[in-house]
Amino acid sequence: MAGKKKSITKGKTTSRTRRMSKTAEPVQLVDICMPNYTNPRGVMFGGKVLELMDKAAAIAAHRYCGTDAVTASTERVDFLTPIKNGYIVDFRAKVIFTGRTSMTVKVTVHSETTVGGIRRLCCSGYVNMIAIGPKGKPIPVPTLRRSTTEDWAEWEEGKSLRLARQRCEI
Ligand SMILES: CC(C)(COP(=O)(O)OP(=O)(O)OC[C@H]1O[C@@H](n2cnc3c(N)ncnc32)[C@H](O)[C@@H]1OP(=O)(O)O)[C@@H](O)C(=O)NCCC(=O)NCCS
Repeated sequence: MAGKKKSITKGKTTSRTRRMSKTAEPVQLVDICMPNYTNPRGVMFGGKVLELMDKAAAIAAHRYCGTDAVTASTERVDFLTPIKNGYIVDFRAKVIFTGRTSMTVKVTVHSETTVGGIRRLCCSGYVNMIAIGPKGKPIPVPTLRRSTTEDWAEWEEGKSLRLARQRCEI
């Protein structure tokens, strides 16, 4: 009996206070804008950009939580500059905020000319990913470790987005 009590207490301690913390490594996904990615004006489809942003975010989330993850939602994305046929497209994704089971991934997209390597920011956005366990249900993720000023600034961005989302849900 005494042994049973001890193990219950131990279980609670593990789930409540011993959630591991972890640093997020940025992920880079590089592609080239092929003719089948473009509209008749030779500019990359917004939907294709979103697809690759989601892919980069998924890789960042999988690497971070070490398990399966699904996209729950995306925040607003504005396309600032067109990506032309033949340009290199560079996606960078990083987990910037974590909840209990959710991860907010920031993705920035740059285009790069093949001749001269001129880089331009095309868009940036946030993808909300949820870690999924073997039973298909959300499971806890490690708490994001913040070391630099940039880490803290990005954490605050993610936190504001979450609060804004929660306000809309009310
Ligand atoms: C996303 C999904 C796992 C949430 O499942 P759920 O049972 O509603 O989960 P819960 O209510 O327990 O919430 C789990 C977490 O998800 C977050 N979440 C749920 N919906 C969300 C949304 N629309 N945007 C951002 N986060 C969301 C919650 O805030 C919570 O985060 P927290 O643990 O960090 O506090 C579920 O709705 C799902 O499987 N959706 C389909 C995902 C999919 O197929 N994506 C591919 C694109 S179609």
